[in-house]
Parts: sequence; C-alpha cells; structure tokens
Amino acid sequence: MVSETVVHFPVMVEEVIKVLVWKEDGVYIDGTVGEGGHARALLERFPHLKIIGLDWDEEILKVAEDNLREFHDRVTLKQANYREVKKVMKTVGREKVSGVFLDLGLSSFHLERSGRGFSFQRDEFLDMRFSKETSLTAYDIVNHSSLEELVRIFEEFGEERKAQAIAEAIGKERKKGEIRSTAELREIIWKVYGGKRGKKDPATLVFQALRIAVNRELENLKGFLDDFLEILESGGRAVIISYHSLEDRLVKRKFLEYSKKKFVHILTPKPLLPSSLEVAVNPASRSAKLRGVEKI
Ligand SMILES: C[S@@+](CC[C@H](N)C(=O)[O-])C[C@H]1O[C@@H](n2cnc3c(N)ncnc32)[C@H](O)[C@@H]1O
Repeated sequence: MVSETVVHFPVMVEEVIKVLVWKEDGVYIDGTVGEGGHARALLERFPHLKIIGLDWDEEILKVAEDNLREFHDRVTLKQANYREVKKVMKTVGREKVSGVFLDLGLSSFHLERSGRGFSFQRDEFLDMRFSKETSLTAYDIVNHSSLEELVRIFEEFGEERKAQAIAEAIGKERKKGEIRSTAELREIIWKVYGGKRGKKDPATLVFQALRIAVNRELENLKGFLDDFLEILESGGRAVIISYHSLEDRLVKRKFLEYSKKKFVHILTPKPLLPSSLEVAVNPASRSAKLRGVEKI
C-alpha cells in the first residue's frame, strides 16, 4: 500500500550536500528521513557514505525502506523521535557521527497519502499525529480544549491574527456537535474570514498551529538542539532546514549561543534559501531556510 513511486521532492539538496558533507566516507544521521529523498541523494553522490535514518512515523519508514532498498548495506533505519538521538546512538552502538541533518515540516506522504488530516485540501479525520506513540490528536484539541487554550495555540504556534474569533466560532460549533473532519474545521475558519481571500488559504495557520501542538514540534526541536553536539565528532556538522519562523528562531538562537561559547563555527551567517528555480519547480520549498554549524 505504501510502496508507490517517490513523489516527494527533497528540498535544497545541493545546499544540504555542500554544507553537511565534509567527510565523504562518514556516517551521517538523517533525523527526519521521511520518504528518503535527501538520504538517497547523499548515498548516490557519495558511494562510501553511510546513513542512519530516523523517522517518528513508522508508516513512512516503510516508504523510506522501499526507496532506499538498493543502498541497504549503507543505511540503517530506526523508528524514533529525533529528540531521542542520543538514545538511538546507543541502540546502534555508535558514539559519534560526522553529521546530523533535520528537514523539519511535512512530507508529501503526510499531506497526500497518510489520511491523517494534515491537509485542509482533503476531507479526513482530524488526527495530525506523526506517530502513534502519542495519543493526543487534533480532534481532541479542537473538541476538548478550553477556548483560552485554543487561542493560545493559534496565536503561539500559528501567529494567527483572528485566533480569538476562530476559537469562539469553534466553541459555538462544538455546542451543536463534534468537529471531526478537516473540512468541518476549514469551513468554520472560512466563515470567520468571510470566504477565501488572497493567495493563502485562511485555514493555513490554524492547521499549522494544531500540527505543532499535537506533535510538540517545538519541544522536540529544543530537545534535539540541546543534545546534538554530544553525538558529533570534532569537525562534525549539523544542518537544519526549517519552514516557519518559530522553528528558525530556535535554530538560529541555539547556533548563536554555541558559537559564542566557541563550541561551533557557524557555516551559514545568513540562512540559505532555495533558488527561484527550485521554488518554481517545487513551491513547497518556498519557505525553507537552511542553517548549518561545524563542531569545533
Ligand atoms: C519534510 S519530511 C522529511 C522529508 C525527507 N527529507 C525526504 O527528502 O524524503 C519531515 C519528516 O520528519 C518526520 N518527523 C516529524 N517529527 C519528527 C520527530 N520528532 N522525530 C523524527 N521524525 C519526525 C515526519 O514524519 C516526516 O517524515
């Protein structure tokens, strides 16, 4: 069921290769291996490089396994949250690696094939969990959180300017019955906005906020940022692609803190952005920002 052809375009592949790979026969952790797009590009380019690929989602790991089958002797795949990267190192019996890479955000698998309500362009149950390890779903938040909590989530994780009005509209709908699907939620948001306006769908930020809350995405990233230096060899590199300002801010601040403490050299004084050609071919790359550091 999950072994379809690769449809995910890995973002900023050339930039990732340039900033991440300093040792062509090194071992690198891809902490968000997803459909295996970046991992494949690295393995194809460097015939002696090895990858430890993690993904929190057990289902997408099967897609990665299929897509990386021909490199099986140079790939180890593990179902794990990247914030547990130190624990993973123990399970694979390694102390250090040459580099770590995170490509935050969503894979096309999640949007188009997971059936888990990540996309407001599909009518699906409001699940939004990357992993079944967690029990809280977007449905739980939308139906059972207090209105104050909804406002906080929409403001903090979505920077949604109509957070209050949307929370109130959800409150009203909840009195009539449960809100179970992406289409129902989108409809509520659209009404608050008075129909579709502009280039961006009015549901975009609320969906982003719910996904971040369900998966505790910022906490995962903070945990990773606290730990990754411990698993890098001297000269080892970390590269992170983020897709919204909340994530990018965390990455930028932590890299700066480590640079001031002389733990790392910053390899990207300004974040690298996708070329206009890449954005034209793959619009999903448009908000990507890539930052990298090298351990001293
Ligand atoms: C943008 S996709 C990665 C795509 C991948 N670079 C590729 O080219 O195919 C992000 C992936 O991160 C995974 N993910 C999200 N949160 C995670 C976490 N805390 N730990 C590990 N994987 C996570 C998602 O399941 C998803 O597969």
